[in-house]
Amino acid sequence: MEGPVLPRGAWRRGHLSTPVLELRDVSLGYRTATGWLTACEGISFSLAEGERLMLVGASGCGKSTLLGAVAGFHAPHAGQLLLDGRPVTQPGPDRMMVFQEFEQLLPWKSVADNIAYPRRLAGTPRAEGRREAETLIAQVGLTGFADAFPHTLSGGMKMRVAIARALAARPRVLLMDEPFAALDALTRRRMQDELLRLWRDFGFTLLFVTHAIEEAVALGSRILVLSPHPGRVQAVLDVPDTLEERAALEARIHRLLLPEEVALHA
Ligand SMILES: Nc1ncnc2c1ncn2[C@@H]1O[C@H](COP(=O)(O)OP(=O)(O)O)[C@@H](O)[C@H]1O
Ligand SMILES: [Mg+2]
Repeated sequence: MEGPVLPRGAWRRGHLSTPVLELRDVSLGYRTATGWLTACEGISFSLAEGERLMLVGASGCGKSTLLGAVAGFHAPHAGQLLLDGRPVTQPGPDRMMVFQEFEQLLPWKSVADNIAYPRRLAGTPRAEGRREAETLIAQVGLTGFADAFPHTLSGGMKMRVAIARALAARPRVLLMDEPFAALDALTRRRMQDELLRLWRDFGFTLLFVTHAIEEAVALGSRILVLSPHPGRVQAVLDVPDTLEERAALEARIHRLLLPEEVALHA
């Protein structure tokens, strides 16, 4: 097989000092029938090129809201959200999102056409888009399925297509919102390994949301722990190399997120 059609570092732009993504004291919320609902507040972090930052926290602590703001779906209530040093004001192909839902593909388009779609929108000629799609299809392990339609694929295969489609757009940051949460345990493990393999091939920058602590430690280079609703930054932790240190980190995050449970078992 030929090498990656998108060479490692295709996303890189050579800003040495500017992080890809920077949040400064960001607060987000929703106007509801009963008043203002704060989803998360005072969130600050930055993401360097090629990093894998995991956001973990309890259900409802604002993880999806935060990722949605990075995607440009909603604006911060306070603070600044910068991509390559410029404020995010709207969605764009420089921030591709992969969701948990299996039905995030266009059902009337084949696997290859789904993957080529963002590039077609960006004006890439059909033949070139198709060639890139074929290479990505091989890289996500779907050789032979280029002309298949989404409804004929398993959940894991649909997820592979969604990842390939996001990578095809060469995003500055790949956003993933609990992408593997609906997969069976075995497929989930396999997809985690494959995501890391793709990261080694491409070197993309990743912002990944999960509520599973093991998943965060398995996939991240750094982990940002959010407090329960409304989410605030509780800790930012580097993921160590050794299995022993990783187990200790998992235990530490458990203590941060579930102090009551830890007390019960003490
Ligand atoms: N569209 C919405 N309108 C009003 N409130 C919302 C909306 N989406 C989420 N929320 C609320 O914002 C908070 C954070 O939600 P969310 O970002 O989905 O959390 P998480 O992804 O961590 O589970 C929750 O209290 C949730 O009920
Ligand atoms: Mg969520």
